[in-house]
Amino acid sequence: MESLWRKDVEMPEFPVLEGDVKTDVLIIGGGMAGLLTAYFLHERGVEYILVEKNRICSGTTQNTTAKITSQHGLIYHKILKYYGVEKASMYYRANEEAVEKYKRLCNSIDCGFEIKDNFVYSVSDREILEQEMSALSKIGCKAELFDSLPLPINTVGAVSFSSQAQFHPLKFLSAIAKNLNIFEHTFVREMKGNTAVTDKAGVCAKNVIVATHFPFINKHGLYSLKLYQHRSYVLALENAQQAGGMYVDEFKTGLSFRDYGDLLLLGGGGHRTGKDGGNWAELRDFAAKHYTSSSEVAHWAAQDCMSLDSVPYIGNYSANTHRLFAASGFNKWGITGAMVAAKLLCDCVNGVKNEYYELFTPGRNMLKPQLFVNTVESAAGFVGFTGKRCPHLGCSLKWNRAEHSWDCPCHGSRFDENGTVLDNPANGNLKK
Ligand code: FES
Repeated sequence: MESLWRKDVEMPEFPVLEGDVKTDVLIIGGGMAGLLTAYFLHERGVEYILVEKNRICSGTTQNTTAKITSQHGLIYHKILKYYGVEKASMYYRANEEAVEKYKRLCNSIDCGFEIKDNFVYSVSDREILEQEMSALSKIGCKAELFDSLPLPINTVGAVSFSSQAQFHPLKFLSAIAKNLNIFEHTFVREMKGNTAVTDKAGVCAKNVIVATHFPFINKHGLYSLKLYQHRSYVLALENAQQAGGMYVDEFKTGLSFRDYGDLLLLGGGGHRTGKDGGNWAELRDFAAKHYTSSSEVAHWAAQDCMSLDSVPYIGNYSANTHRLFAASGFNKWGITGAMVAAKLLCDCVNGVKNEYYELFTPGRNMLKPQLFVNTVESAAGFVGFTGKRCPHLGCSLKWNRAEHSWDCPCHGSRFDENGTVLDNPANGNLKK
């Protein structure tokens, strides 16, 4: 199970960090958010080190469907309801700036970058599309409402943002990472004050940025309550009708479509990690029914951190940690989310005021309905019994038949058949 992006790119390699060092900024995690942050710090001449426990881009970043858009489902109505017009407008601006930044950077990078329109459709609820259009008009965004789409499904319409983009994420990042100060196979086992302890080194940093997908320091920030993880699946199909744009269902477990070259990338089958879902079987059934001449050239799965209010957590790790920062909870929109995070965190470590800080701060009010759901799921996972316990906070693991892994319904850690950790927040393997 290897994503399409992995098949045609050699990522640059970096050494292991050995011996004790000091730096202004330590970035932990070599995915999209960590690498972009390092790239901007490098540009600004700030001293930094990025450490990655495996190879760079070996986590969520290699499994994205790589849509570059400021349209994150039907999010604007939701933000407007929670936080008002000003913050909804800020969210739009921050993400539009991210799209524009990709356009500029991709000008000089050979990474399959293409301008495409983005569509968020519904199969049953026209009213929520109209609500979203109304929210978008309040924040001055010129979206368009479509009645039908060139897809083999029945919809009641779609909201569309024009001039968005798609690319090959690893071709992009292999170019971005080339000259950065990166150390691979350098696993931060714990933080002792402002020193990161790895197997062969200690990194003492004035600022620490945790970009590890799920923030791994448990004692601050309540991320175990603020986040859950969602799994979704992708097929790359040849000889399937091309989508021509980027399409996603407003419903979390619905389908998504985009092209890459002659291939169609069909996404869906999603579920909360540790729960049942359609997985690849659902996508294969769909392909057999609607793309009868198609054949599968790759399949893979993605794992995403979901926040309580659909807005990412970017900024101070918690209210009490002043030089410790986090970027997480991108809610499946990690391409633009990572760009927003990189710019915001660069400003944080440089002491520059960022206009979006309050919107994204992880310390914002947690009282949202999803907090209740997360609490109930964690309690149920904790009292469940399947014989295997998660080393993160002790929940009972569930066997994932489609992927042959042990998955945690509480916060989404995953382990292979032999107990080796696949996805955090667990920081180590299952006990034998
Ligand atoms: Fe937290 Fe398993 S991921 S208990």
